[in-house]
Amino acid sequence: MIIKNFDPQHFVKEYWQKKPCLIRQFVPNFVDPIDENDLAGLAQEEGVDSRIVSHSDGAWDVHQGPFDDFEPYCKGDWALLVQGVNNYIDDVNALASIVDFIPHWRFDDVMVSYSTKNAGVGAHTDQYDVFIIQGKGSRRWQVGLPIDATTNAKLIIPHPLLKQIEDFDALIDEVLLPGDAIYIPPQHPHKGMTLSPCLNYSLGFRAPTNLEALTGLLDESDSITQAQSRYCDPDIAELRVASSSPMQVSTNELNKLKDTIVELLNSPEAEQALLQYLSRQGLATEQELSLYEIADISEAVAQGETFEKLPGVKPIYAERQLHTFTFYIDGNRFEVDKSIFTQTVTLLESRQVQGLPQGFTLQTAQSTHWLNLLLQLVNAGYWDFAENSDQH
Ligand code: SIN
Ligand code: CO
Repeated sequence: MIIKNFDPQHFVKEYWQKKPCLIRQFVPNFVDPIDENDLAGLAQEEGVDSRIVSHSDGAWDVHQGPFDDFEPYCKGDWALLVQGVNNYIDDVNALASIVDFIPHWRFDDVMVSYSTKNAGVGAHTDQYDVFIIQGKGSRRWQVGLPIDATTNAKLIIPHPLLKQIEDFDALIDEVLLPGDAIYIPPQHPHKGMTLSPCLNYSLGFRAPTNLEALTGLLDESDSITQAQSRYCDPDIAELRVASSSPMQVSTNELNKLKDTIVELLNSPEAEQALLQYLSRQGLATEQELSLYEIADISEAVAQGETFEKLPGVKPIYAERQLHTFTFYIDGNRFEVDKSIFTQTVTLLESRQVQGLPQGFTLQTAQSTHWLNLLLQLVNAGYWDFAENSDQH
């Protein structure tokens, strides 16, 4: 349960979604990408999901951000927790690449917490997998055997915004130091208790239930409605017994209707709708984007301007591609010519790009495809001129 030399392949085989483990020096020579002041700054912003959990004189208190003032809430032992920090701070987003052995569609966000001595959110379970990386300071982590989702007998609600469970027998009970990490699969009880003021980075994963995936894909109505067909029964004589009550729905009829649902689910359109749904991240892109023309982008690229992907942007695409290369970002569909597949994937993977892809020259079909793609990504708010660029 304690891993010293982390090997992703061994990890996914032995631990992922199976059992918790402690990974010593998961991030060797760890340097915190932010500090508590940066975190407090984020917690002041509208649209950023933050909370302060405090424990004072035996009572728990929870306050939801944004915060104008921290003092009234930071009582006793307290922790400030901020969700989705990877969507705002590029170096925190870069930290998440350490778990790239798990696909991006399973990734949720990086939650960062700052906690004072003895603080924590108490013993609890989460529905999702998480890697909690220890930043500065130190924390004692305890993790137990999974709790059946149907048994809520152990649930304690010390505050309407806080779900805890009774203390549990710990399988892992260790002190984490900077760069160490703990992996916790869903439903495993865990509890962190701060030994010296510390930062923790929770790289969280999500998995939809089949019902969520089904309703999610149905909500992507642009793609799925094209594949619908209406139930028809010219074969009604074979589907039901003539003498049966008109109130009765025959098993054959039910099966036939279910088959049409499966047919819809198996359509290429449903696959696209599913991808579209899986790509949704709830990114907060700039509301008032400057819309560029292709000439602006071509000129900027020719002049060697740098373009950068915004923090948290996670494109996804299906292994199986048809006539064009299709990918999705946060529910938006992009299609490019297959001839620039490699250069597109490189662009999507890179934090920054400068100039045309290697081997491309201006005014060729391939470079035009690529520049048009960059234009679409910039105009959609997912890529931008780099910070130091004149256009910014
Ligand atoms: C924390 O960082 O304090 C909470 C992380 C967790 O247990 O989910
Ligand atoms: Co947790």
